[in-house]
Amino acid sequence: MSSQPAIVARGLVKRFKTGRSHIEVLKSVDFEALHGDVTMVMGPSGSGKSTLVACLSGLLKPDAGSVSAMGEDLWSYKSGKIDRFRLDHCGFIFQGFNLFPALTARQQVEVILKYKGFSPSEARRKAAVALTEVGLEMRMNQRPSELSGGEKQRVAIARALAKDPELLFADEPTSALDGENGQVVIKLLQRAAKQFGAAVICVTHDPRLESYADRVIHIEDGRILDDRRVVAGDATADHSHSQPALAGA
Ligand SMILES: Nc1ncnc2c1ncn2[C@@H]1O[C@H](COP(=O)(O)OP(=O)(O)O)[C@@H](O)[C@H]1O
Ligand SMILES: [Mg+2]
Repeated sequence: MSSQPAIVARGLVKRFKTGRSHIEVLKSVDFEALHGDVTMVMGPSGSGKSTLVACLSGLLKPDAGSVSAMGEDLWSYKSGKIDRFRLDHCGFIFQGFNLFPALTARQQVEVILKYKGFSPSEARRKAAVALTEVGLEMRMNQRPSELSGGEKQRVAIARALAKDPELLFADEPTSALDGENGQVVIKLLQRAAKQFGAAVICVTHDPRLESYADRVIHIEDGRILDDRRVVAGDATADHSHSQPALAGA
């Protein structure tokens, strides 16, 4: 899997007004994430994780700094073009599932695919494939009220992955789930990175997820404290240290 930077942010500042004063929630944050990596952003509640994800993904305009996503200077665009960028390149998974109550699992996925321009029959076919990939082939015609929390989050993942996003943003995707369902969800996110090369940016305060990360970034009070690559197994082997082929010749 190539390790191209999928997204690079420099000097991100975000302030919110509370009464007469401003609080600075992001204090000049530099950030980057690579294709094929699960990049985990960890930090306590209120540290700025959701704000960071919103700024990186075109949902919330930073007060200063830049975001280059897939080589495009995101915040130089007008809002319509940012919306289009999100539709074309980004998948989102949130804590609260964000499903439409009236739609079946299959329709939740189809709607997005039709938006993206797929024909109704193609959208239907791709939705079935995506739901099968997350193990919900037997649940396709059920509505959210008939699904468990873990199943709902798998629908949200199928919806995010069906359009083959290069960037996958997850904000506390497991916090409403028990340990077992949380593990299913994080493994699906990991597969999106390893199998499809997505840059997965997952924000969480759940330390159990850390072992699934290729990279862990700690944020506190709007600042990045540390940023380290997790060395585990050969998936993260750093080939730059291997001997050149000619060395022994
Ligand atoms: N729209 C807003 N208006 C005012 N303050 C906000 C807003 N959104 C977030 N904040 C504040 O910014 C800080 C960081 O929030 P957030 O990014 O949601 O943190 P986290 O996701 O790490 O819990 C918190 O103190 C929060 O209260
Ligand atoms: Mg948050």
